[in-house]
Amino acid sequence: MKKELPWWKKGIIYQIYPRSFMDLNSDGIGDLEGITRQLDYLSDLGIDAIWLSPIYQSPNVDFGYDVANYVDVDQEFGTLQHFDQLVTAAHQRNIKIILDLVLNHTSDQHPWFVESRKSKDNPYHDWYMWHDPSPKGGPPNNWLSWFGGGGWEYDQHLDQYYFHMFYKEQPDLNWRNPQVRQAMLDVYRFWLDRGVDGFRMDVFNMYFKDKDLRDNPLGGKGPRKFNHQLHLYDMSQPEMHPLLQEIRQLLDSYGEKYMVGETFYSSPQQAAAYIGDDQLHAGFDFSMLGRKFSAPFFRKAIKDWLSALDEKWPNFVLNNHDNSRSATRYKAKKDDKVLKVSATMLLTLVGTPFLYYGEEIGMRDIFLWRHQVLDPVSKRYWPLLPPRDGCRSPMQWDGTDFAGFSNAKPWLPVHPASEQRNVIVQQSDPASLLHFYKNLITIRRAHSALHSGSMEMIDESNPSILAYTRQSDEETVLVALNFTKKAANFVLPVQYREKSWNVILSQHLQEQETTTGTKFALQPLETLILRLN
Ligand code: GLC
Ligand code: CA
Repeated sequence: MKKELPWWKKGIIYQIYPRSFMDLNSDGIGDLEGITRQLDYLSDLGIDAIWLSPIYQSPNVDFGYDVANYVDVDQEFGTLQHFDQLVTAAHQRNIKIILDLVLNHTSDQHPWFVESRKSKDNPYHDWYMWHDPSPKGGPPNNWLSWFGGGGWEYDQHLDQYYFHMFYKEQPDLNWRNPQVRQAMLDVYRFWLDRGVDGFRMDVFNMYFKDKDLRDNPLGGKGPRKFNHQLHLYDMSQPEMHPLLQEIRQLLDSYGEKYMVGETFYSSPQQAAAYIGDDQLHAGFDFSMLGRKFSAPFFRKAIKDWLSALDEKWPNFVLNNHDNSRSATRYKAKKDDKVLKVSATMLLTLVGTPFLYYGEEIGMRDIFLWRHQVLDPVSKRYWPLLPPRDGCRSPMQWDGTDFAGFSNAKPWLPVHPASEQRNVIVQQSDPASLLHFYKNLITIRRAHSALHSGSMEMIDESNPSILAYTRQSDEETVLVALNFTKKAANFVLPVQYREKSWNVILSQHLQEQETTTGTKFALQPLETLILRLN
């Protein structure tokens, strides 16, 4: 008998930014009970798993990515009991729960760090990267913070520096200390025991830094000083592989659990090297999160990622909480046609698609004046880089004052177009983006070629149309997407010419109709899915 693929291969994963999904207790901040309340919506959409951005206790310098307690829920989001209720209610609907583990650094308010800075002989001192000034004075080496400025913060009382890859309120842990390693494995156990199905590992390739603290060589370019160093020594050290193996063994001892890694600042090859049967189940490649909207751009991104992965299982993603939303990046018109093209791509490619809340209704970034920006790194780089707050605005459920997200003023403004662009409006419009996503998800589920099959690019020099076939033991499906605003043709490979195809999705052919030919014409921004008869 053929082996069924595991859920995380066949499934679709939906990222929720908990502060912004649904606020049930009217304090303007999304909460766990709110997410539980909306599970039927997600179940109806057809997703298989939810990745929750961090829900742990946090002073919110980096909105949850600065954790002050790994084994409790922040009171803003609710309680552990609310969390258990969410897991149970999600599982009842066959939806898995994936937590975001931020283990490269803690908050500076975490009791471990508070202890560690008390004295050099404090038992927790070595849990963080404390180092003496360089012999010439000043920081131990030239490492920088991704969020701007130097990576070392001086502590007068200790006459030492600690390292922080992100904000100074996010000190990096010393993963070479076996106690840190044990404490973190215990964090995994804590949540696995509570029934979670997997983890998204935040910037995991940064856990280990060079033991000798060597300076990074200069080189590279980009808008930040950070881009002007070659990051040989402050990330991606070989010690990460055995650690991933250890974590994987722990996960495997709990049954079919999942871990997906955010490989920070890396090439597709580097990200792929951490994936495998004894390491991560999957990793992210962020090449697609650019502004470009063209067949050649996506073709290259897809091919590069797939060739780096070799036979490993891919993920594809167009949106997350760190980047401007795709609708904004592509300057999508109100008709959402370009978003229908990118959605069709995302949901018919080989591998696991990741959606970001609100993507299915085409949410746009909110515009913020400088004084409204809350994310510190966005303040620092304003207006050079788009603020990350832009993509974190409240979910647009309906056309009421606060978009049905809350009865109180939300922590970030609601998008001004929420009256027209929201779930309720789109649910009642069969031509809406929401219906389009739901339809694609249904199509993906119904066709083994799409959720489990192999993939092959066709007509690869076509400047307008991205086209590929998907194939399983049962069927062959063809996908063709016109990324341009002009009609365009694509050519079938020889073996498919003059064969008969059934129309699954098209804007100019009727569904269920059959079609044939050597060349097919697509209308502007048309998305075509055919099945070989
Ligand atoms: C990851 C997160 C980002 C966070 C950073 C530091 O890149 O996605 O939101 O600011 O890690 O934890
Ligand atoms: Ca709330």
